[in-house]
Order: sequence, then structure tokens, then C-alpha cells
Amino acid sequence: MDKKFKRTLVTSALPYANGPVHIGHLAGVYIPADIYVRYLRMRGEDVLFICGSDEHGVPITIKARQQGVSPQDIVDRYHKIIKDSFTGLGINFDIYSRTSSKVHEKNASDFFRKLYDEGKFVTKESEQYYDPEAKTFLADRYIVGTCPKCGAEGAYGDQCEKCGSTLSPEELINPKSKLSGAEPIKKKTSHWYLPLNEYESWLSEWILEGHKEWRSNVYGQCKSWIDGGLQPRAVSRDLDWGVPVPVEGAEGKVLYVWFDAPIGYISNTRELLPQSWEQWWKSEDTKLVHFIGKDNIVFHCIVFPSMLKAYGDGYILPDNVPSNEFLNLEGDKISTSRNWAVWAHEYLEQFPGKEDVIRYVLTANAPETKDNDFSWKDFQARNNSELVAVFGNFVNRAVVLTHKYFGGKVPARGTLQDIDRETLAQIPQIRASLEKNLDGYHFREALKDAMNIARVGNKYISDAEPWKVAKTDMERTATILNVCLQICADLAIAFEPFTPFAAEKLRKMLDVTLFAGYDHRKGEQETVNTYRDGEAAALHTLPFGGTAVCEGACEGGVRLEWNLLGEESILPEAHQLGAAELLFAKIEDDAIQAQLDRLDAIRAEREAAAKEEAAKQVEPQKAEISFEEFEKMDIRTATVLEAVKVPKTDKLLQLTIDTGIDRRTIVSGIAEYYTAEEMVGKQICILANLAPRKIRGIESKGMILMARQGDGKMRFITPQEILANGACIG
Ligand code: 2FM
Ligand code: ZN
Repeated sequence: MDKKFKRTLVTSALPYANGPVHIGHLAGVYIPADIYVRYLRMRGEDVLFICGSDEHGVPITIKARQQGVSPQDIVDRYHKIIKDSFTGLGINFDIYSRTSSKVHEKNASDFFRKLYDEGKFVTKESEQYYDPEAKTFLADRYIVGTCPKCGAEGAYGDQCEKCGSTLSPEELINPKSKLSGAEPIKKKTSHWYLPLNEYESWLSEWILEGHKEWRSNVYGQCKSWIDGGLQPRAVSRDLDWGVPVPVEGAEGKVLYVWFDAPIGYISNTRELLPQSWEQWWKSEDTKLVHFIGKDNIVFHCIVFPSMLKAYGDGYILPDNVPSNEFLNLEGDKISTSRNWAVWAHEYLEQFPGKEDVIRYVLTANAPETKDNDFSWKDFQARNNSELVAVFGNFVNRAVVLTHKYFGGKVPARGTLQDIDRETLAQIPQIRASLEKNLDGYHFREALKDAMNIARVGNKYISDAEPWKVAKTDMERTATILNVCLQICADLAIAFEPFTPFAAEKLRKMLDVTLFAGYDHRKGEQETVNTYRDGEAAALHTLPFGGTAVCEGACEGGVRLEWNLLGEESILPEAHQLGAAELLFAKIEDDAIQAQLDRLDAIRAEREAAAKEEAAKQVEPQKAEISFEEFEKMDIRTATVLEAVKVPKTDKLLQLTIDTGIDRRTIVSGIAEYYTAEEMVGKQICILANLAPRKIRGIESKGMILMARQGDGKMRFITPQEILANGACIG
């Protein structure tokens, strides 16, 4: 099963350029993908990491319309924000392009055209909603109305955001076009469909038989789609934003966003490597891995592979599709529309220098097997008690003591004692587990392994106490610190995928460089002198062709690479270290409180808005009654003379009322809204001839008329000016 590949092509889902990315996206897709790629690069594997913005689709056009700008303005804005966030977090794609690029337009268009020419599509006529005023077909999102499930206004034709129900436009009560407000009508239109039903048995064999090793959430979703029977899927839309359908007579039609977006992976590879892209997409020696969120599974496992299969021409299929579940924030679903999120670009502004902390916490809590929660307290605790107290503390003690006793030179190792041997022996074991977890896309567990190396180091230095030994035995001190420094080098290797900024700092402290992978553009372009955030890089010619990239000038020095992890002498004796620096800093309570306050404010605002909305909801009219029935009701003015709380109840007041005709007792459930004192002296309206009933042993004669608002709030009714008691209403 474990096929040996020559190279790995890693893609991560192209984020929609209609909003910034948040921690849910990072934890679900981009951080795990970056970890995997960094690991492969350090192992010296030939790997390419592709991403870019997904710039088509209806939500972008809606946002543009709402803001009175063009869709291009929207995608330009968010493409930049998203790209900068990824760079800021050290997510190092080989290319981050966009589906509005020329290369993509041509590539996606050609892709469609070939399938069209070869008769791989079926056309179907259907009735779609159409706005007769705006003279355009309406995507489901463009139709709004009352939700048939919960009654909320403003539900979309595909979903009610209030109750979360999936809807179809036909189900909406009072459907209206978002564009003109007109009532949409049904109109005939025709579209191209990929007949997924024709690929069913092939998909079943490829996935259900051939990829039982895929994560159970991915495999399970595929199985239920395939078992449920696949239907032809439309690959075009009536819309004016997207890649135009390259067929005569298809004016006003574009490729469906989920048809063009995955082709974007290919387009972006072509843009980066115009001459050699095919070796990445059409060679059986390439391992293709798509990192995605769980809402993308069907598109990456069923639809896109069927498109590639239909196209033929040697396109490869994914070897794996690691997909995470969802991340919640402080116990609540992350939601862009409700602003319930931690946005990557805001995090980078508010926590400068703490890029690794969010990478670390989101990996430690990654929703790999089930939905998981991000909380700011956990974020603080993991930083302070793991990164600072274990990893940072160990490295700091080792490097500072080496400077103190040995002028910063790696001291010579003498005879090893049991504790030294046992400590060093643990690292290769941890490495084996770490590799197994990384190879199997279990990044949470892999991070635990990496942290275990720091724990081993921390325990060793605490037990061996070099600061005490130094008072009597410098030779033994040298051995202890030598062992500690080798573990520091192990940490610089093991943590590079997870916390690359700290790993870089650590390399500076140890004065070592890193083998950082290959630059695939070499050979295609005249000069390639920048790599990884514009830093100059040293290039090495590799024995099997291609070019390796190392940061800085690494010739002659110590160069870390994955294979050194667990070696006993990574740092040679007398190697001069750089200056000691703190790897991580504590996060104080006030920084966390500021975040919690922000979320509390959002929550409070949301609750107030929900209440306001609920208050507006009115009950439907009751069944019709006759005038005679109405006349039977004796409604009149009255005044409250006395009021007391009914003992042992929360809601009941016992009121003595002057009705103009008598003085009587009414027991009313208004204590929730008024105190007894507030009621005394108030003129109210009552239903006087309601049959008497006993409430808590007290005879109540009549009912106080109350107006009840949608949110449950109640108020008694009082005439506009004081009248005589007993005045009849009707
Ligand atoms: O869910 C999303 O954010 C989509 N924009 C992902 C697209 S992935 C790919 F197919 F391009
Ligand atoms: Zn609803």
C-alpha cells in the first residue's frame, strides 16, 4: 500500500476572497498543511505547496452589491488581507495566486472546453428563479423570504441563518429578489451537467475499495454520497461574475465556482512552473494531497476527481485528502456573519511576535477527529505552561549556562553516565513516533511528540543540575551541557514544522542553518535569488538534479536537516553558539481579558439584536369570531387599590380592584413585570365577566388585560387619560 513517490504536491483549499481568514480556517486547513510541507522539505523531499484565493461565486457578488463596489474590488481587498495573514503566520506556499488571474481563466476555460468537445457533459433545461425587474436569473442566495421552519425574516433561498435549516427557494414564504425586491418568477434556462452517476462505480472502487486508510470522516462522507446514488451536477451558472462558459450561445453564463476553483490548483501550479507543471499533475510518481475543511469533502473526493477522470490525459488523483472537523470559539460556532471569530490579520496586529503561539495552540487543539474548542484561557495556559515553562525554559537554561561556564562554545563530552545515555536514547524513539504521526497526518499527536523532546530535556537538566555540579566538577558539567545542547538542536529540527519562528530564533542561538527545501523555479527562469519572504538563500546543486535552498550562507557551518534528529552529536565540540535569547514570553492576564471583553461585547450586542428582533415578531391573528361573541366580553376600566405578592410564588400578585361596579380580587401573573407597589393606584383594563377561578386557594374574578410582545415582555393596558372606573370598552 505504501507506494514510494518521487515528489509530493500539496494543495490547501483556496479560501474565498469575500472575507478574512479566521482561526477555524487556520486550524482546519492551513496550519496542518504547512506543518506537513515543512516536514517534507526538511526531509529533503521534492514538495510543492499550492494555494490561492477563490475569487468567484455568488457571495462575492452579494458583498460587492451591498457595499456598492465591484466584485473585483472585493476580491482585491480580501486577497491581500488573506495573503498577508498567511505570510505573517509563516505559512509558506510556493505560490499563492488567485482564480481571477489570466492563467486561471484560460486554464479553466480550456478544461471546460475539452470536456464539452468530447461530449462529457449533459445539458439540461430547468426552471430557475428569475427577477423580472432586474432581468436576471437569481442564485438561491439572491432570494430572501420568511423561513418556513422558524418564521425568521431574511432567510436565504438555500439556508436560514437563524435556525440553520437547509432550504430551497421554493420553500420560502413570500420570496423576494434581493436585487430589486420583486417577486421572482420561474423561467426556463439550460445548463451543462457533469453526469456523476456515470462515475459512481469507478468512484466506489477507487475510494471505497482503494482508500480505506482515509480519515474516517472523509471516507464516511464519501461512502454516504456514493451509497446514496450520485446525480448529474450543474457546472455552469447564470451569473455575470466568473469564468465565462466558452461555448457559443452561452452569454450570461459562467462556470460554477466549484467547477473552476479546484482547477485553480492546476492553474496556480502552471503559473509558477509554466514548463514543468505537468510533472506535478500528470506523473504517477507524484503524490497529491489535498488539505481541506470538512465542508469541502464532496468536492475534493467526488466532484474534482470525476472531472479529472473525465478529462483523462494522465491527471493523477489525490492519494489522501486530510480533512478536519470544525473549530468552535469559546463554546460557540465560529461565524463570519455574526463576527464570532478570531481573525488572523487582527491576531497578528494584536499579538506581534506571537505567530508561533497561535500555530502551537491551534495544532494542540486541532479538530482532527471531532469538533473542538478554542478558548483564550487555554491559549494563555498553553503558552505560559508549555511553550514558556517547558520548551523556552529548557533552551534558555542550556544556552545561558554554556555561555556562563564555557564562553558559549559547545563543551566536550566526557564519559556518559546512565542518565545521559537513557536521555539521549529517548530521542530516536520520539522521532519514530513523530514521523509516524506526521506521515499519517496526525498533527496533534505529532506536536505532543515534539513537546516530549522538550520535556525530556527539561527533566534531564533539572535532574542533572549542571549549575550545582559546576561548583565541583567542570568535566561533568561539560558533558551535561553537551547533552543539553544536542537536545536543543533536536528541538530546532523537531519544532521547525510547528513553530518556525521559534525554530529560527533557536537556530540563531545555536548558530546553525537549515536545509529548507528546493526551489523549483530554478532552471525555468533566468535568476532565482529570492526565496522564503525575500530572504537571500544559498543554493546547492543536488546529486539527483534540482536545487536545494538553505537560508543564509550555510557553507562550512552546521546545517540542520530532518535526518539529524536524534543523532548524538549534531553540534560538534567547540562550535560557537550565538547570543542567548528568550524563545517565548509569558502572556499576561490583561491581554487575555481584552480578548474576552471583545467577545463579551459581541455576544451582548448579538443578544440585544436578537431580543429586538424577537420583540418585533407578532402572533398570527386568531380565528374569526362574530360580533355577538365579541359583545359577550365585558371589558372595562378599573383601578388597583391594593396589591400583595401571593406567598410562595414568583409570578403572582393578588390585586384588589375598584371596577366601578364592585370591589373585587383578581390574581394575576404580573409579578414578573411589576412590583406590588408599582401596581397600586394604576388604572387598568380588565375582562370583568370571566368566570371566577381559584388560583392558589384565592378566588380570582376577572382578568387584567396585558399586551404581550414577541420577546415575552408584558405591559398592562391603561386608557390614554384617566377615566371613571367601570367605563366599558368596546
Ligand atoms: O470552502 C471554501 O473556502 C472554498 N473556497 C474552497 C475551495 S477549494 C478548491 F477547490 F479550490
Ligand atoms: Zn429558520
